[in-house]
Amino acid sequence: MAVPAKLTIHTDPRSPFLTEAYVMGVLSSGNALSGAYSELDIFPGFCDVHVHLREPGFSYKETIGSGTRACARGGYTTVCAMPNLNPVPDSVEHLNVELDRIRCDACMRVLPYGSISVGEAGKELADLEGMAPYAVAFSDDGKGLQDPGLMLEAMRRAKALGKLIVAHCEDNTLLKGGYIHDGEYARLHGHAGICAESEWRPIQRDLHLCAKTGCAYHVCHISCKESVELIRQAKADGLDVTCETAPHYLLLDESCLKEEGRFKMNPPIRGKKDREALVEGLCDGTVDMVATDHAPHSPEEKSRGLKDSPFGISGIETAFPLLYTGLVRTGILPLSTLLDRMVYTPLERFGIPAVPGFSVWDLQTLTHIDSKDFLSMGKATPFDGQEVYGTCLATYLGDQRIW
Ligand code: DOR
Repeated sequence: MAVPAKLTIHTDPRSPFLTEAYVMGVLSSGNALSGAYSELDIFPGFCDVHVHLREPGFSYKETIGSGTRACARGGYTTVCAMPNLNPVPDSVEHLNVELDRIRCDACMRVLPYGSISVGEAGKELADLEGMAPYAVAFSDDGKGLQDPGLMLEAMRRAKALGKLIVAHCEDNTLLKGGYIHDGEYARLHGHAGICAESEWRPIQRDLHLCAKTGCAYHVCHISCKESVELIRQAKADGLDVTCETAPHYLLLDESCLKEEGRFKMNPPIRGKKDREALVEGLCDGTVDMVATDHAPHSPEEKSRGLKDSPFGISGIETAFPLLYTGLVRTGILPLSTLLDRMVYTPLERFGIPAVPGFSVWDLQTLTHIDSKDFLSMGKATPFDGQEVYGTCLATYLGDQRIW
């Protein structure tokens, strides 16, 4: 690569390896970039604690190979893989099936979750002790754990193991067949809505259990203002709680919805006030990190409209450009805070050591999102066609180019 006139390496004491010598050494070696750029930015590899890589069990939606290549293209070098798989990693034996795939096919660091309950069925606890050395944390993501007694016991055991409980918060009794936000769009178009209470009630329940047990507790993909408020208060009360939200909740609200499956995920895109509360929470640190909830499905599955498509969108290749364009360039969030939420807080909270790795970005050129170009097998995104700044030209792990 011809060295650009301006190369900004976003160094930080928390990424001690990200030095000019390391970056220039890698970029001037044989696997360097082609093309001439006047200005490039170097970021430490991002960390997403919430991706669905679909293997084992659902390789028609995504594979460890395609999923991690997509993650690398998004600037990530570390991702945590959710356990709604087949078999569900609820024992060492089942977790090993996933770990074998990761060893063979992943192009980056993939840290798997163990499930909280056997088969994510919410009836009995998985082998948390057995899985603890190999699982990054425990989660039943994709399903809410309904039984408070089981959650209490899970928290007690996770606390003893020094592991995080990572909760998908959803009260099934409040869902009532809903599939998009219970708001104006649903009413106008005759859709069944999912109320915000189905998310914040279980968070409220778990915060009590967290206070009781002292367990380290992390809430997945929060989508509504009440969740932000509950977590803000819990932090003020000194509880060991963190949370994540995703780019679509920060950048879209129900007024953006269309009658297409690519606008459907769980939890749903909510109202304007919810979106604003999430942005405020991200700015003030109540929302600790951005995760993508990258949840690929086959094009056929996502072609069935809002009502009949499965929940989930492809998000790993677009997260940084969307947030950089929507929050940083607009002056809402400093770039350093975005990096904090995409690199440092996730690594720190999940106890993941920083490893050498970085991505190279052109932040000057306006491009548009084209899902046909995705490396992910999941092509459904509500952001298709949107104009963004931020093209990831290369990602390196150590000195190996992974994108
Ligand atoms: O939209 C979602 N998709 N939300 C979830 O909780 C699960 C995920 C999936 O696995 O497809």
